[in-house]
Amino acid sequence: MKSAESEQYELVIVSNRLPVDHVSGEGDDAVWRTSPGGLVAALEPVMRERDGVWIGWPGMPDVHFEPFEADGIDLIPVPLSAEEVEDYYEGFSNDTLWPLYHDVISPPSYHREWWEAYQRVNRRFADAAIEVAAPNAIVWVHDYQLQLVPKMLRDARPDLIIGFFNHIPFPPYGIYSQLPWRRQIVDGLLGADVVGFQRVADAGNFARAVRRLHGFETRGNIINVPLEDGQLEQTVRHRATGRRGHPIRTVLARPFPISIDAQEYQKLAADPQIRARAREIREELGNPRVLMLGVDRLDYTKGIRHRMKAFGELLEDGAFTSEEVALVQVASPSRERVDAYAQLRDEVEIMVSRINGDFSQLGHPGIHYLHQGYPREEMVALYLAADVMLVTALRDGMNLVAKEYVASRTDQDGVLILSEFAGASDELRQALLVNPHDIDGLKSAIVHAIRMPQRERTRRMRALRKRVLSHDVQRWSATFLDALTREDHNDPANHLDIPKRTVAPLGYGD
Ligand code: F6P
Repeated sequence: MKSAESEQYELVIVSNRLPVDHVSGEGDDAVWRTSPGGLVAALEPVMRERDGVWIGWPGMPDVHFEPFEADGIDLIPVPLSAEEVEDYYEGFSNDTLWPLYHDVISPPSYHREWWEAYQRVNRRFADAAIEVAAPNAIVWVHDYQLQLVPKMLRDARPDLIIGFFNHIPFPPYGIYSQLPWRRQIVDGLLGADVVGFQRVADAGNFARAVRRLHGFETRGNIINVPLEDGQLEQTVRHRATGRRGHPIRTVLARPFPISIDAQEYQKLAADPQIRARAREIREELGNPRVLMLGVDRLDYTKGIRHRMKAFGELLEDGAFTSEEVALVQVASPSRERVDAYAQLRDEVEIMVSRINGDFSQLGHPGIHYLHQGYPREEMVALYLAADVMLVTALRDGMNLVAKEYVASRTDQDGVLILSEFAGASDELRQALLVNPHDIDGLKSAIVHAIRMPQRERTRRMRALRKRVLSHDVQRWSATFLDALTREDHNDPANHLDIPKRTVAPLGYGD
C-alpha cells in the first residue's frame, strides 16, 4: 500500500525511458500518450496489483516534470540535461555499450567524460528509486543504460528486493573485456538479487565475466558473491556459506526470454478494418505475387544491408522481377545524432536507390523504403499482407518483430526468415534460420520461402504460434517476478523454460 505521509511504493520499475511519449505542453499542461510497448502491457496489471511506480527519462533534454499519472500508472520523470543526453545516452549508452554488447559490429568509443556522465545519471535514477521505495519493496531495473543502479540501491537500501533485466545481449568475455570500466559494471549488476538475460548464452557470458574478473564461485545459474564485513548483518535474503566456508549472498543470473502482448496482436489481426487495410496494401503495391517485409529501427545491428544485398542479387540473377516480388522495408528513425547511425542511413539509402535504379520496372520499384515509424494497427496490416518476413539481425537481444509477425498470423500462413543471431531464434526453431553474413545462404532461404508449399507454411507457422502465444510478455514478467521473490535461489522451480535443442552460434556462449 502507498503510505499516507509520503508517496512510497511496493514495486518500483526503473528504465531509461518512461512508458509515455510527450505530446505537447509543459509543466501541469503537459499532455502525454502512453506508448504501446509490450513492457507496459506486461507490467500494467502487476503495477496496479502491487501499487507500483515507474521511474524514467521523459525523452527530452532540459525539462523538469513533476511526478504524474498516465492511464492509472504513477510516473516519476528523471531529468537529463542536453549535455547528459549527449554523454550518457548518445555517448556511453549508445556509442560505447550498444556496439560493445552487439559484438562490436560498429567500433565502440571509450571516453572518460561519457563514463563520468553514465555514473552521474545512474546515481540520479538510483536516488529517485531509493526515495520512493517502501521498506522491503521490489525494485526492477531495466537495461544497459542503468547497470550501475542495482549496486547503488543495495549499498543504500539492503532491505530492497532488486531485480535487473538486460534487454540486449551480454557479450563474450573476449569482447566485454575491452571495456575500461568492466569491473564497475559487473559489480553494479551483482548488486541485484536476480540478473535476467535474454539467452542462455548471455547469462553464461555474464557468469564467465564474473569468474574472470573476480574469481567468484558460480554453480549453474547461481553466483556466490562473498560478503564483506560491513555487509554481513545487513544481508538477510539469499545469505549462505560458500564452498570455502565464507559468508556469501547468492545472485541468480539466468535467461528470461522476453516476449510480446500476443493476445493484443491476435485481436488486431482479427479486426476487419485492419484485414481490409492488409488487402489494400497489396493492391497499392501493384499486387505482387510475393510481398516480403522488413521492419526495424534503423540500426546497424539489424542486418538491413545484408538483406538488401541478397534481394538485389536475386533480382540481378533473374530469380524474380520487381513486378513479381516486392520488398517493403520499414526503417524507423533512431539515435540519429550518433555518427554510426547517420552513416548507416546514408549507406542504406544509397543501396536502395542503386537496387531500384538497376531493377525497378515502371510502377514496380523493387524496394519500398519507408524511413518512418507507424502505429501498431498499420504494422499488423503489413504483417498480414506480407508473405515473407525478413529478420536478418547481425546481433539482437531478442527481436520482438519476429514474434509480432507470428502472433499476427492468425491465418497460420506466412514464412519467417530469422537470423540465428537474434535471441528469438532460441525459441522460434520452425522459422527458416539463417546466418545473415552468408549472402548465398540468405538468398537460398528467400527462394525457399517464396516456393514453400502451403502445407509446410502452415505446419511451421502453427508451431511458431504455439510458442509465441503460450510464452507471452505477461508470462515473462510473472516468471521474472516469481524468481525475484522466491526465497531460495536453489529452488528447482528456477527451471529454464527454453526449448532443449537451443544451440548458441559458434563462439558465443560457454
Ligand atoms: O532494446 C533496447 C532498447 O533500448 C529498448 O529498450 C528501446 O525500446 C530501444 O532499444 C530503442 O532505444 P532508444 O530508447 O535509444 O530509442
